[in-house]
Amino acid sequence: GITRHYEFNVQMANATRLCNTKSMVTVNGQCPGPELVAREGDRVVIRVTNNVAHNISLHWHGVRQVRTGWADGPAYITQCPIQTGQSYVYNFTVAGQRGTLWWHAHISWLRATVYGALVILPKLGVPYPFPAPHKEVPVIFGEWWNADTEEVVNQAVQTGGGPNVSDAFTINGLPGPLYNCSAQDTFKLKVKPGKTYMLRLINAALNEELFFAVANHTLTVVEVDAVYVKPFTVDTLVISPGQTTNVLLTAKPYYPGANFYMSAAPYSTARPGTFGNTTVAGILEYENPAMSPSAASFVKGLPLFKPTLPQLNDTDFVTNFTDKLRSLATPEYPAAVPQSVDKRFFFTVGLGTLPCPANMTCQGPNNTQMAASMNNVSFVLPARALLQSHFTGLSSGVYAPDFPVAPLSPFNYTGTPPNNTNVKTGTKLLVLRYNTSVELVMQDTSILGIESHPLHLHGFNFFVIGQGFGNYDAVNDPAKFNLVDPVERNTVGVPAGGWVAIRFLADNPGVWFMHCHLEAHTTWGLRMAWLVLDGSHPNQKLLPPPSDLPKC
Ligand code: C2O
Repeated sequence: GITRHYEFNVQMANATRLCNTKSMVTVNGQCPGPELVAREGDRVVIRVTNNVAHNISLHWHGVRQVRTGWADGPAYITQCPIQTGQSYVYNFTVAGQRGTLWWHAHISWLRATVYGALVILPKLGVPYPFPAPHKEVPVIFGEWWNADTEEVVNQAVQTGGGPNVSDAFTINGLPGPLYNCSAQDTFKLKVKPGKTYMLRLINAALNEELFFAVANHTLTVVEVDAVYVKPFTVDTLVISPGQTTNVLLTAKPYYPGANFYMSAAPYSTARPGTFGNTTVAGILEYENPAMSPSAASFVKGLPLFKPTLPQLNDTDFVTNFTDKLRSLATPEYPAAVPQSVDKRFFFTVGLGTLPCPANMTCQGPNNTQMAASMNNVSFVLPARALLQSHFTGLSSGVYAPDFPVAPLSPFNYTGTPPNNTNVKTGTKLLVLRYNTSVELVMQDTSILGIESHPLHLHGFNFFVIGQGFGNYDAVNDPAKFNLVDPVERNTVGVPAGGWVAIRFLADNPGVWFMHCHLEAHTTWGLRMAWLVLDGSHPNQKLLPPPSDLPKC
Protein backbone atom coordinates (compact mmCIF):
# COMPACT_ATOMS: atom_id res chain seq x y z
CA GLY A 1 0.00 0.00 0.00
CA ILE A 2 0.91 3.67 -0.27
CA THR A 3 0.57 6.51 2.23
CA ARG A 4 -2.15 9.07 1.65
CA HIS A 5 -1.89 12.45 3.33
CA TYR A 6 -4.82 14.69 4.15
CA GLU A 7 -5.02 18.10 5.82
CA PHE A 8 -8.20 18.64 7.79
CA ASN A 9 -8.58 22.20 8.93
CA VAL A 10 -11.40 22.49 11.44
CA GLN A 11 -12.82 25.96 10.86
CA MET A 12 -16.02 27.94 11.06
CA ALA A 13 -17.92 28.50 7.81
CA ASN A 14 -21.24 30.05 6.91
CA ALA A 15 -23.96 27.96 5.38
CA THR A 16 -27.47 28.89 4.28
CA ARG A 17 -30.29 26.35 4.27
CA LEU A 18 -34.06 26.93 4.51
CA CYS A 19 -33.29 30.66 4.09
CA ASN A 20 -31.39 30.63 7.36
CA THR A 21 -27.69 31.43 7.53
CA LYS A 22 -25.51 30.20 10.35
CA SER A 23 -21.87 29.90 11.15
CA MET A 24 -20.94 26.30 11.86
CA VAL A 25 -17.98 24.05 12.58
CA THR A 26 -16.69 22.37 9.39
CA VAL A 27 -13.67 20.61 8.00
CA ASN A 28 -12.03 22.74 5.31
CA GLY A 29 -15.16 24.92 5.11
CA GLN A 30 -17.27 22.10 3.64
CA CYS A 31 -20.32 20.17 4.84
CA PRO A 32 -20.23 17.27 4.16
CA GLY A 33 -16.48 17.48 4.61
CA PRO A 34 -13.84 16.12 2.23
CA GLU A 35 -14.14 12.55 1.00
CA LEU A 36 -11.27 10.35 2.16
CA VAL A 37 -10.25 7.77 -0.42
CA ALA A 38 -7.75 4.99 0.15
CA ARG A 39 -7.07 1.52 -1.13
CA GLU A 40 -7.12 -1.57 1.03
CA GLY A 41 -3.63 -1.87 2.55
CA ASP A 42 -2.87 1.88 2.40
CA ARG A 43 -1.74 4.03 5.27
CA VAL A 44 -3.88 7.11 5.86
CA VAL A 45 -2.35 10.13 7.59
CA ILE A 46 -4.69 12.98 8.44
CA ARG A 47 -3.40 16.07 10.16
CA VAL A 48 -6.32 17.68 11.98
CA THR A 49 -5.85 21.28 13.06
CA ASN A 50 -8.36 22.90 15.36
CA ASN A 51 -9.09 26.50 14.40
CA VAL A 52 -12.42 26.82 16.20
CA ALA A 53 -13.39 27.76 19.75
CA HIS A 54 -14.58 24.20 20.53
CA ASN A 55 -12.56 21.13 21.47
CA ILE A 56 -12.59 18.61 18.61
CA SER A 57 -11.77 15.00 17.89
CA LEU A 58 -12.48 12.92 14.80
CA HIS A 59 -13.47 9.27 14.49
CA TRP A 60 -12.98 7.03 11.45
CA HIS A 61 -16.19 5.09 11.83
CA GLY A 62 -15.74 1.39 11.04
CA VAL A 63 -11.97 1.46 10.57
CA ARG A 64 -10.76 -1.40 12.73
CA GLN A 65 -7.64 0.39 14.02
CA VAL A 66 -5.87 -2.83 14.88
CA ARG A 67 -3.39 -1.93 17.67
CA THR A 68 -3.79 1.78 16.78
CA GLY A 69 -6.58 2.76 19.17
CA TRP A 70 -4.80 6.12 19.57
CA ALA A 71 -6.20 7.03 16.15
CA ASP A 72 -9.78 5.94 16.84
CA GLY A 73 -10.93 9.32 18.06
CA PRO A 74 -13.83 9.25 20.55
CA ALA A 75 -13.12 12.09 23.00
CA TYR A 76 -12.22 10.97 26.53
CA ILE A 77 -12.27 7.32 25.43
CA THR A 78 -9.16 6.92 23.27
CA GLN A 79 -7.82 10.46 23.40
CA CYS A 80 -8.21 13.83 25.00
CA PRO A 81 -9.74 16.33 22.59
CA ILE A 82 -7.66 18.50 20.29
CA GLN A 83 -7.81 21.96 21.81
CA THR A 84 -8.13 25.26 19.99
CA GLY A 85 -4.95 26.02 18.07
CA GLN A 86 -3.58 22.48 18.40
CA SER A 87 -3.23 19.71 15.85
CA TYR A 88 -3.09 15.96 16.01
CA VAL A 89 -2.10 13.51 13.29
CA TYR A 90 -4.35 10.47 12.91
CA ASN A 91 -2.22 7.73 11.41
CA PHE A 92 -3.60 4.27 10.61
CA THR A 93 -3.72 1.60 7.96
CA VAL A 94 -6.85 0.25 6.31
CA ALA A 95 -6.07 -3.46 6.11
CA GLY A 96 -8.39 -6.37 5.59
CA GLN A 97 -11.40 -4.20 4.82
CA ARG A 98 -12.77 -2.36 1.82
CA GLY A 99 -15.98 -0.50 1.11
CA THR A 100 -17.87 2.52 2.32
CA LEU A 101 -17.20 3.90 5.78
CA TRP A 102 -17.27 7.46 7.04
CA TRP A 103 -15.68 9.85 9.47
CA HIS A 104 -17.24 12.26 11.93
CA ALA A 105 -16.54 14.45 14.94
CA HIS A 106 -16.74 12.42 18.13
CA ILE A 107 -17.28 15.05 20.78
CA SER A 108 -20.47 16.72 21.93
CA TRP A 109 -22.83 16.85 18.92
CA LEU A 110 -20.35 18.42 16.53
CA ARG A 111 -20.82 15.55 14.12
CA ALA A 112 -24.02 17.39 13.09
CA THR A 113 -21.85 19.40 10.71
CA VAL A 114 -18.48 17.59 10.84
CA TYR A 115 -18.71 14.41 8.80
CA GLY A 116 -17.75 12.93 5.44
CA ALA A 117 -17.34 9.75 3.42
CA LEU A 118 -14.38 7.39 3.85
CA VAL A 119 -14.05 5.11 0.85
CA ILE A 120 -11.71 2.12 0.85
CA LEU A 121 -11.27 0.77 -2.65
CA PRO A 122 -10.33 -2.86 -3.19
CA LYS A 123 -6.65 -3.60 -3.84
CA LEU A 124 -5.55 -2.72 -7.38
CA GLY A 125 -6.66 -5.41 -9.78
CA VAL A 126 -9.17 -6.94 -7.38
CA PRO A 127 -12.70 -6.59 -8.80
CA TYR A 128 -15.92 -6.15 -6.88
CA PRO A 129 -17.85 -9.42 -6.48
CA PHE A 130 -20.51 -7.84 -8.73
CA PRO A 131 -20.34 -6.13 -12.15
CA ALA A 132 -18.34 -2.91 -11.96
CA PRO A 133 -20.65 0.13 -11.84
CA HIS A 134 -20.38 2.95 -14.38
CA LYS A 135 -20.01 5.45 -11.53
CA GLU A 136 -19.84 5.53 -7.73
CA VAL A 137 -21.51 8.31 -5.77
CA PRO A 138 -21.54 8.99 -2.01
CA VAL A 139 -25.07 9.77 -0.81
CA ILE A 140 -24.82 11.03 2.77
CA PHE A 141 -27.89 11.65 4.91
CA GLY A 142 -27.65 14.34 7.54
CA GLU A 143 -29.75 16.69 9.62
CA TRP A 144 -29.93 20.48 9.58
CA TRP A 145 -30.89 22.65 12.51
CA ASN A 146 -31.45 26.34 11.99
CA ALA A 147 -30.08 26.73 15.52
CA ASP A 148 -26.43 26.40 16.43
CA THR A 149 -25.37 22.80 17.22
CA GLU A 150 -24.24 23.78 20.72
CA GLU A 151 -27.64 25.34 21.40
CA VAL A 152 -29.33 22.12 20.33
CA VAL A 153 -27.21 19.97 22.63
CA ASN A 154 -27.45 22.44 25.51
CA GLN A 155 -31.22 22.48 25.21
CA ALA A 156 -31.26 18.68 25.46
CA VAL A 157 -28.73 18.46 28.28
CA GLN A 158 -30.03 21.36 30.36
CA THR A 159 -33.65 20.26 30.33
CA GLY A 160 -32.89 16.57 30.80
CA GLY A 161 -35.42 15.98 28.03
CA GLY A 162 -35.43 15.17 24.34
CA PRO A 163 -33.55 17.25 21.77
CA ASN A 164 -35.32 19.69 19.53
CA VAL A 165 -36.19 17.95 16.29
CA SER A 166 -34.06 19.02 13.34
CA ASP A 167 -35.50 21.46 10.81
CA ALA A 168 -34.63 19.24 7.85
CA PHE A 169 -32.97 16.06 6.76
CA THR A 170 -30.34 16.47 4.08
CA ILE A 171 -28.73 14.52 1.25
CA ASN A 172 -25.11 15.54 0.80
CA GLY A 173 -25.90 18.61 2.89
CA LEU A 174 -29.00 19.66 0.89
CA PRO A 175 -32.58 19.51 2.24
CA GLY A 176 -34.25 19.41 -1.15
CA PRO A 177 -37.54 20.64 -2.59
CA LEU A 178 -40.00 19.34 0.02
CA TYR A 179 -38.89 21.92 2.59
CA ASN A 180 -39.76 25.61 2.44
CA CYS A 181 -37.22 27.83 0.78
CA SER A 182 -35.04 24.90 -0.24
CA ALA A 183 -35.77 23.94 -3.87
CA GLN A 184 -32.47 25.47 -5.00
CA ASP A 185 -30.64 23.26 -2.46
CA THR A 186 -31.39 19.88 -3.99
CA PHE A 187 -28.98 17.02 -4.56
CA LYS A 188 -29.21 15.91 -8.20
CA LEU A 189 -27.82 12.71 -9.57
CA LYS A 190 -27.50 12.77 -13.34
CA VAL A 191 -27.64 9.34 -14.92
CA LYS A 192 -27.28 7.93 -18.41
CA PRO A 193 -29.89 5.46 -19.69
CA GLY A 194 -28.86 1.85 -19.19
CA LYS A 195 -25.92 2.55 -16.90
CA THR A 196 -25.46 1.16 -13.40
CA TYR A 197 -24.55 3.43 -10.49
CA MET A 198 -23.26 2.45 -7.08
CA LEU A 199 -24.68 4.69 -4.37
CA ARG A 200 -22.57 4.69 -1.23
CA LEU A 201 -25.28 5.46 1.31
CA ILE A 202 -24.19 6.80 4.69
CA ASN A 203 -26.54 7.70 7.52
CA ALA A 204 -24.83 10.59 9.29
CA ALA A 205 -28.07 11.87 10.84
CA LEU A 206 -27.82 12.53 14.57
CA ASN A 207 -31.04 11.08 15.84
CA GLU A 208 -33.02 9.30 13.13
CA GLU A 209 -33.04 5.94 11.42
CA LEU A 210 -34.16 6.42 7.83
CA PHE A 211 -36.06 4.68 5.06
CA PHE A 212 -34.71 5.35 1.57
CA ALA A 213 -36.13 4.73 -1.90
CA VAL A 214 -35.85 6.01 -5.46
CA ALA A 215 -39.14 6.33 -7.32
CA ASN A 216 -39.67 3.70 -10.04
CA HIS A 217 -36.21 2.19 -9.52
CA THR A 218 -35.02 -0.78 -7.52
CA LEU A 219 -31.93 -0.92 -5.35
CA THR A 220 -29.65 -3.94 -5.19
CA VAL A 221 -27.89 -4.10 -1.83
CA VAL A 222 -24.30 -5.37 -2.25
CA GLU A 223 -22.50 -4.21 0.89
CA VAL A 224 -23.19 -2.94 4.40
CA ASP A 225 -20.68 -1.37 6.79
CA ALA A 226 -17.86 -2.11 4.33
CA VAL A 227 -18.55 -5.84 4.10
CA TYR A 228 -19.99 -7.45 0.96
CA VAL A 229 -23.35 -9.16 1.31
CA LYS A 230 -25.25 -11.61 -0.86
CA PRO A 231 -26.94 -9.22 -3.29
CA PHE A 232 -30.69 -8.71 -2.99
CA THR A 233 -33.03 -6.24 -4.57
CA VAL A 234 -35.57 -4.02 -2.83
CA ASP A 235 -37.73 -0.97 -3.52
CA THR A 236 -36.96 0.56 -0.13
CA LEU A 237 -34.25 0.06 2.47
CA VAL A 238 -33.62 1.17 6.01
CA ILE A 239 -30.36 2.63 7.27
CA SER A 240 -29.56 3.61 10.87
CA PRO A 241 -27.23 6.36 12.05
CA GLY A 242 -23.72 4.97 11.80
CA GLN A 243 -24.54 2.45 9.11
CA THR A 244 -23.42 2.47 5.50
CA THR A 245 -25.01 0.59 2.61
CA ASN A 246 -23.84 0.23 -0.98
CA VAL A 247 -26.59 -0.24 -3.53
CA LEU A 248 -26.56 -0.66 -7.28
CA LEU A 249 -29.12 1.34 -9.22
CA THR A 250 -29.54 0.66 -12.92
CA ALA A 251 -31.00 3.50 -14.96
CA LYS A 252 -33.80 2.61 -17.36
CA PRO A 253 -32.51 1.54 -20.77
CA TYR A 254 -34.36 4.38 -22.50
CA TYR A 255 -34.94 8.04 -21.79
CA PRO A 256 -37.98 7.91 -19.49
CA GLY A 257 -39.24 11.47 -20.00
CA ALA A 258 -39.55 12.03 -16.27
CA ASN A 259 -37.50 12.80 -13.19
CA PHE A 260 -37.53 10.76 -10.01
CA TYR A 261 -37.27 11.64 -6.38
CA MET A 262 -34.86 9.77 -4.16
CA SER A 263 -36.31 10.23 -0.69
CA ALA A 264 -35.50 9.46 2.91
CA ALA A 265 -37.81 9.77 5.92
CA PRO A 266 -37.54 8.50 9.48
CA TYR A 267 -38.25 5.14 11.04
CA SER A 268 -39.16 5.73 14.68
CA THR A 269 -41.25 3.75 17.13
CA ALA A 270 -40.73 6.06 20.09
CA ARG A 271 -43.61 8.43 20.58
CA PRO A 272 -44.50 8.40 16.88
CA GLY A 273 -45.42 11.83 15.73
CA THR A 274 -43.23 13.76 18.10
CA PHE A 275 -40.06 13.14 16.11
CA GLY A 276 -39.21 14.82 12.85
CA ASN A 277 -41.49 13.20 10.33
CA THR A 278 -40.33 15.05 7.27
CA THR A 279 -38.83 13.91 4.00
CA VAL A 280 -35.63 14.85 2.26
CA ALA A 281 -35.62 14.45 -1.49
CA GLY A 282 -32.95 14.50 -4.14
CA ILE A 283 -33.58 14.11 -7.84
CA LEU A 284 -32.50 11.37 -10.21
CA GLU A 285 -32.23 13.15 -13.53
CA TYR A 286 -31.69 11.37 -16.85
CA GLU A 287 -29.27 12.82 -19.32
CA ASN A 288 -30.88 12.86 -22.71
CA PRO A 289 -28.17 12.84 -25.35
CA ALA A 290 -30.73 13.72 -28.01
CA MET A 291 -31.66 17.00 -26.37
CA SER A 292 -30.69 20.47 -27.53
CA PRO A 293 -29.06 23.16 -25.37
CA SER A 294 -32.54 24.12 -24.18
CA ALA A 295 -32.49 20.76 -22.38
CA ALA A 296 -32.27 22.33 -18.96
CA SER A 297 -35.64 24.07 -19.12
CA PHE A 298 -37.14 20.97 -20.74
CA VAL A 299 -35.91 18.76 -17.90
CA LYS A 300 -37.36 21.22 -15.39
CA GLY A 301 -40.82 20.82 -16.87
CA LEU A 302 -40.83 17.01 -16.75
CA PRO A 303 -43.16 15.10 -14.46
CA LEU A 304 -41.69 14.06 -11.11
CA PHE A 305 -42.33 10.65 -9.58
CA LYS A 306 -42.17 10.21 -5.81
CA PRO A 307 -41.49 6.95 -3.99
CA THR A 308 -43.84 5.76 -1.26
CA LEU A 309 -41.96 5.18 1.98
CA PRO A 310 -43.13 2.93 4.83
CA GLN A 311 -44.99 4.34 7.82
CA LEU A 312 -42.94 6.07 10.51
CA ASN A 313 -43.23 3.08 12.89
CA ASP A 314 -43.16 0.17 10.40
CA THR A 315 -41.06 -2.29 12.41
CA ASP A 316 -42.25 -5.20 10.24
CA PHE A 317 -40.65 -3.59 7.24
CA VAL A 318 -37.39 -3.12 9.14
CA THR A 319 -37.33 -6.74 10.35
CA ASN A 320 -38.05 -8.01 6.90
CA PHE A 321 -35.23 -5.95 5.46
CA THR A 322 -32.61 -6.82 8.08
CA ASP A 323 -33.51 -10.53 7.81
CA LYS A 324 -32.31 -10.42 4.19
CA LEU A 325 -28.77 -9.37 5.08
CA ARG A 326 -26.28 -12.23 4.70
CA SER A 327 -22.51 -12.35 4.39
CA LEU A 328 -21.15 -13.54 1.06
CA ALA A 329 -19.40 -16.41 2.85
CA THR A 330 -17.40 -17.43 -0.21
CA PRO A 331 -13.79 -18.69 -0.31
CA GLU A 332 -12.67 -15.16 -1.36
CA TYR A 333 -14.81 -13.46 1.29
CA PRO A 334 -15.31 -15.96 4.09
CA ALA A 335 -17.49 -15.23 7.10
CA ALA A 336 -15.14 -15.81 10.04
CA VAL A 337 -17.93 -16.34 12.57
CA PRO A 338 -16.55 -17.50 15.91
CA GLN A 339 -17.93 -21.03 16.22
CA SER A 340 -17.19 -21.37 19.90
CA VAL A 341 -17.74 -18.84 22.67
CA ASP A 342 -15.49 -18.01 25.65
CA LYS A 343 -17.71 -15.36 27.24
CA ARG A 344 -21.46 -14.83 27.00
CA PHE A 345 -22.95 -11.49 28.00
CA PHE A 346 -26.48 -10.17 28.24
CA PHE A 347 -26.93 -6.38 28.21
CA THR A 348 -30.16 -4.50 28.59
CA VAL A 349 -30.25 -1.48 26.37
CA GLY A 350 -32.78 1.22 26.91
CA LEU A 351 -33.99 4.43 28.34
CA GLY A 352 -34.55 5.28 31.97
CA THR A 353 -34.57 8.28 34.22
CA LEU A 354 -32.45 9.85 36.92
CA PRO A 355 -33.59 12.23 39.66
CA CYS A 356 -33.64 15.81 38.45
CA PRO A 357 -30.56 17.69 39.72
CA ALA A 358 -31.48 20.52 42.11
CA ASN A 359 -30.38 23.28 39.75
CA MET A 360 -32.43 22.04 36.77
CA THR A 361 -36.03 21.99 35.60
CA CYS A 362 -36.31 18.58 33.95
CA GLN A 363 -38.53 17.57 31.08
CA GLY A 364 -38.38 13.79 31.61
CA PRO A 365 -41.46 11.95 32.93
CA ASN A 366 -42.52 13.05 36.45
CA ASN A 367 -39.97 15.83 36.41
CA THR A 368 -37.02 13.45 36.03
CA GLN A 369 -33.91 13.74 33.93
CA MET A 370 -33.86 11.49 30.90
CA ALA A 371 -31.15 8.85 31.10
CA ALA A 372 -30.21 5.81 29.08
CA SER A 373 -28.27 2.83 30.23
CA MET A 374 -26.76 -0.57 29.51
CA ASN A 375 -27.21 -3.03 32.36
CA ASN A 376 -28.51 -0.13 34.43
CA VAL A 377 -25.29 1.85 34.11
CA SER A 378 -25.63 5.25 32.55
CA PHE A 379 -22.09 5.85 31.35
CA VAL A 380 -20.39 9.09 32.31
CA LEU A 381 -17.46 10.35 30.24
CA PRO A 382 -14.32 10.66 32.40
CA ALA A 383 -12.20 13.80 32.66
CA ARG A 384 -9.11 11.93 31.40
CA ALA A 385 -9.05 9.60 28.38
CA LEU A 386 -9.56 5.93 29.22
CA LEU A 387 -6.95 4.56 26.82
CA GLN A 388 -4.15 6.78 28.16
CA SER A 389 -5.22 5.99 31.72
CA HIS A 390 -5.05 2.28 30.98
CA PHE A 391 -1.76 2.49 29.08
CA THR A 392 -0.01 4.51 31.79
CA GLY A 393 -1.54 2.48 34.61
CA LEU A 394 -3.06 5.65 36.10
CA SER A 395 -6.63 4.49 36.01
CA SER A 396 -7.71 5.04 39.59
CA GLY A 397 -10.32 7.78 39.76
CA VAL A 398 -10.80 7.59 35.99
CA TYR A 399 -12.67 4.33 35.50
CA ALA A 400 -13.65 1.13 37.30
CA PRO A 401 -13.08 -2.22 35.52
CA ASP A 402 -16.36 -3.63 36.85
CA PHE A 403 -19.02 -3.14 34.19
CA PRO A 404 -21.89 -5.45 35.28
CA VAL A 405 -22.12 -8.59 33.15
CA ALA A 406 -25.88 -8.83 33.72
CA PRO A 407 -28.70 -6.37 34.43
CA LEU A 408 -29.14 -5.53 38.11
CA SER A 409 -32.68 -6.80 38.30
CA PRO A 410 -33.95 -9.06 35.56
CA PHE A 411 -37.59 -8.41 34.71
CA ASN A 412 -40.02 -8.81 31.90
CA TYR A 413 -38.23 -6.42 29.57
CA THR A 414 -40.98 -6.03 27.05
CA GLY A 415 -43.93 -6.10 29.44
CA THR A 416 -45.12 -3.37 31.78
CA PRO A 417 -42.16 -1.27 32.75
CA PRO A 418 -41.24 -1.18 36.43
CA ASN A 419 -41.48 2.14 38.26
CA ASN A 420 -37.89 2.02 39.40
CA THR A 421 -35.61 2.08 36.40
CA ASN A 422 -32.61 1.48 38.66
CA VAL A 423 -30.27 3.63 36.62
CA LYS A 424 -26.91 4.42 38.21
CA THR A 425 -24.25 6.62 36.74
CA GLY A 426 -20.69 5.35 36.38
CA THR A 427 -17.59 5.01 34.21
CA LYS A 428 -17.19 1.27 34.01
CA LEU A 429 -15.22 -0.91 31.62
CA LEU A 430 -15.68 -4.56 30.80
CA VAL A 431 -12.27 -6.23 30.68
CA LEU A 432 -11.54 -9.00 28.15
CA ARG A 433 -8.43 -11.08 27.69
CA TYR A 434 -6.86 -10.93 24.25
CA ASN A 435 -8.60 -13.20 21.72
CA THR A 436 -11.70 -13.82 23.82
CA SER A 437 -14.56 -15.04 21.66
CA VAL A 438 -17.56 -12.99 22.79
CA GLU A 439 -21.26 -13.58 22.37
CA LEU A 440 -23.38 -10.61 23.37
CA VAL A 441 -27.15 -10.44 23.48
CA MET A 442 -28.56 -6.96 23.64
CA GLN A 443 -32.14 -6.68 24.85
CA ASP A 444 -34.25 -3.57 24.31
CA THR A 445 -36.22 -2.65 27.41
CA SER A 446 -39.70 -1.26 27.30
CA ILE A 447 -38.99 1.41 29.88
CA LEU A 448 -40.42 4.66 28.55
CA GLY A 449 -41.52 2.91 25.37
CA ILE A 450 -39.90 0.47 23.01
CA GLU A 451 -37.40 1.82 20.56
CA SER A 452 -34.81 0.53 18.15
CA HIS A 453 -31.25 1.43 19.14
CA PRO A 454 -28.48 1.36 16.52
CA LEU A 455 -25.59 0.02 18.61
CA HIS A 456 -22.10 0.73 17.29
CA LEU A 457 -18.94 -1.05 18.41
CA HIS A 458 -15.56 0.58 17.84
CA GLY A 459 -12.49 -1.48 16.95
CA PHE A 460 -14.29 -4.55 15.62
CA ASN A 461 -16.75 -5.90 13.13
CA PHE A 462 -19.22 -8.36 14.62
CA PHE A 463 -21.54 -10.99 13.21
CA VAL A 464 -25.28 -10.59 13.74
CA ILE A 465 -26.19 -14.19 14.50
CA GLY A 466 -29.79 -13.70 15.60
CA GLN A 467 -32.57 -11.28 16.39
CA GLY A 468 -36.10 -11.57 17.72
CA PHE A 469 -38.94 -9.88 19.55
CA GLY A 470 -40.03 -10.08 23.15
CA ASN A 471 -37.70 -11.36 25.87
CA TYR A 472 -34.60 -13.23 24.76
CA ASP A 473 -34.95 -16.93 25.56
CA ALA A 474 -31.49 -18.25 26.46
CA VAL A 475 -32.70 -21.84 26.19
CA ASN A 476 -34.51 -21.87 22.85
CA ASP A 477 -33.27 -18.88 20.85
CA PRO A 478 -29.64 -20.02 20.37
CA ALA A 479 -30.87 -23.00 18.33
CA LYS A 480 -31.94 -20.49 15.67
CA PHE A 481 -28.61 -18.67 15.47
CA ASN A 482 -27.04 -18.35 12.03
CA LEU A 483 -23.38 -19.35 12.33
CA VAL A 484 -22.92 -19.88 8.60
CA ASP A 485 -23.49 -16.61 6.75
CA PRO A 486 -24.62 -13.95 9.25
CA VAL A 487 -24.11 -10.36 8.20
CA GLU A 488 -20.90 -8.77 9.47
CA ARG A 489 -21.07 -5.12 10.47
CA ASN A 490 -20.14 -2.43 12.99
CA THR A 491 -23.58 -0.98 13.80
CA VAL A 492 -26.72 -3.01 14.40
CA GLY A 493 -30.25 -2.09 15.35
CA VAL A 494 -31.40 -3.65 18.60
CA PRO A 495 -35.02 -4.27 17.49
CA ALA A 496 -37.75 -2.19 19.15
CA GLY A 497 -39.10 -4.46 21.88
CA GLY A 498 -36.70 -7.23 20.96
CA TRP A 499 -33.12 -8.45 21.11
CA VAL A 500 -30.14 -9.02 18.87
CA ALA A 501 -27.25 -11.46 19.33
CA ILE A 502 -23.76 -10.75 18.03
CA ARG A 503 -20.39 -12.48 18.13
CA PHE A 504 -16.93 -11.03 17.79
CA LEU A 505 -13.37 -12.03 18.49
CA ALA A 506 -11.62 -9.61 20.84
CA ASP A 507 -8.37 -9.62 18.85
CA ASN A 508 -7.69 -5.89 19.07
CA PRO A 509 -6.06 -4.64 22.27
CA GLY A 510 -7.26 -1.26 23.51
CA VAL A 511 -10.28 0.54 24.89
CA TRP A 512 -13.27 0.31 22.59
CA PHE A 513 -16.37 2.39 22.89
CA MET A 514 -19.80 0.87 22.28
CA HIS A 515 -22.83 3.11 22.12
CA CYS A 516 -26.17 3.88 20.60
CA HIS A 517 -25.56 5.96 17.49
CA LEU A 518 -28.63 8.09 18.21
CA GLU A 519 -26.76 11.07 19.60
CA ALA A 520 -29.44 11.91 22.17
CA HIS A 521 -29.24 8.40 23.61
CA THR A 522 -25.44 8.47 23.73
CA THR A 523 -25.62 11.74 25.62
CA TRP A 524 -28.11 10.22 28.06
CA GLY A 525 -25.60 7.45 28.81
CA LEU A 526 -26.40 4.59 26.41
CA ARG A 527 -22.73 3.74 26.08
CA MET A 528 -19.98 1.64 27.66
CA ALA A 529 -16.44 0.60 26.84
CA TRP A 530 -14.56 -2.68 26.54
CA LEU A 531 -10.95 -2.96 27.64
CA VAL A 532 -9.19 -5.64 25.61
CA LEU A 533 -5.87 -6.55 27.20
CA ASP A 534 -2.63 -7.13 25.29
CA GLY A 535 -1.84 -10.62 24.11
CA SER A 536 1.50 -12.20 24.97
CA HIS A 537 3.07 -12.02 21.48
CA PRO A 538 4.66 -8.64 20.58
CA ASN A 539 2.29 -8.21 17.65
CA GLN A 540 -0.70 -8.65 19.94
CA LYS A 541 0.04 -5.51 21.91
CA LEU A 542 -1.32 -2.00 21.69
CA LEU A 543 1.29 0.22 20.01
CA PRO A 544 2.68 3.12 22.06
CA PRO A 545 0.89 6.47 21.69
CA PRO A 546 2.09 9.02 19.13
CA SER A 547 4.09 11.90 20.62
CA ASP A 548 1.52 14.52 19.62
CA LEU A 549 -1.37 12.77 21.40
CA PRO A 550 -3.47 15.58 22.94
CA LYS A 551 -3.45 16.06 26.71
CA CYS A 552 -6.53 16.78 28.83
CU1 C2O B 1 -19.80 6.67 14.44
CU2 C2O B 1 -18.62 6.14 18.29
O1 C2O B 1 -19.20 6.49 16.40
